[in-house]
Amino acid sequence: MRKTLIAGNWKMNLDWDEAMTLFANLVKLEAENHINVEVAVFPPSTYLRHFYELKKGRNSGLGIGAQDCSAHESGAYTGETAASMIASVGAQYILVGHSERREYHNESNHSLSDKVIQALKYGLSPVFCCGEKLEDRENENQTFVIDNQLDSTIFNLSEEDFSKVIIAYEPVWAIGTGKTASPEQAQEMHSFIRGLVQSRYGHDVAEKCRILYGGSMKPSNAKELLSQPDVDGGLIGGASLSIKEFAQIIDSSV
Ligand code: 13P
Repeated sequence: MRKTLIAGNWKMNLDWDEAMTLFANLVKLEAENHINVEVAVFPPSTYLRHFYELKKGRNSGLGIGAQDCSAHESGAYTGETAASMIASVGAQYILVGHSERREYHNESNHSLSDKVIQALKYGLSPVFCCGEKLEDRENENQTFVIDNQLDSTIFNLSEEDFSKVIIAYEPVWAIGTGKTASPEQAQEMHSFIRGLVQSRYGHDVAEKCRILYGGSMKPSNAKELLSQPDVDGGLIGGASLSIKEFAQIIDSSV
C-alpha cells in the first residue's frame, strides 16, 4: 500500500513572516487533526533550518524539503547549495528537475542525474519531476517525452537507490495555468509511468513507487485526481500558499 503524499511547492513566494505563519498554521493543523497522509512543504531553502527547529520542538511529522540542489559535491559554484548542506539543516526531501528549473536554468538530463545522485548520497528522498509541454501534448508525444525524461535519468539508478525516489508527473501546460489534467489524463499518464518502472525494475518496485500529480491541483479538483488508482499524492504550487486551500486538499486525500 502506497502512502499518499501531499506536498506544497512554495516556489519563490512568501517572505519570512508569511512563511513562518503558514508553517506554524500547518503544524497546528497537523496537531489538531488526525491526518493519515504524509504532508511535506518545499519552502525557499533559507527557511528550512527554522522549520526544522520548529517541527522538532512540536514533535511534528511534517516533511520539509528544498526545491533544488547543486549537481556538484562542493566547491567554487557561487550561488549553489549542495545536497549535503540541505541534508545538514534537517530536510528530508529535494525536488529535482522541476519544469521551471529545466526551462529557466537549462537543466539537462545529465545534470539532473547528478543532482539525484547527490541527494541520495546524503539521505534525501528526491522528488523527481517529469512532464510534457503543451506542444508535446498537442502532437501526442507525451509518452515519448516522459519515457525519455525518466530513461536518461532515474532509470540509471540501482534498484535500491530507485526505491528512494518519488516521481512527480507535472504536465507543463497545467502548471500555474489553472488548466488541470483531467482525472482520466492523469491516470493514463501515471499508469504509463508505473508501467515504465515495472519494465525497468519489476512489479514489486513499481507497486511501491509513489507517483504524485502536479499542475493546478486545488480543492475543487483534488478529490477526483487523488482518487485515481495510480495517483499517489499531489505536488501543489499556488494552492499550497493558502492554509485553507492546502488543508482542503489534504482533507480530500483521506
Ligand atoms: P500549480 O499548482 O501552481 O499549478 O504548480 C504546480 C507545480 O509546479 C508544483 O511543483
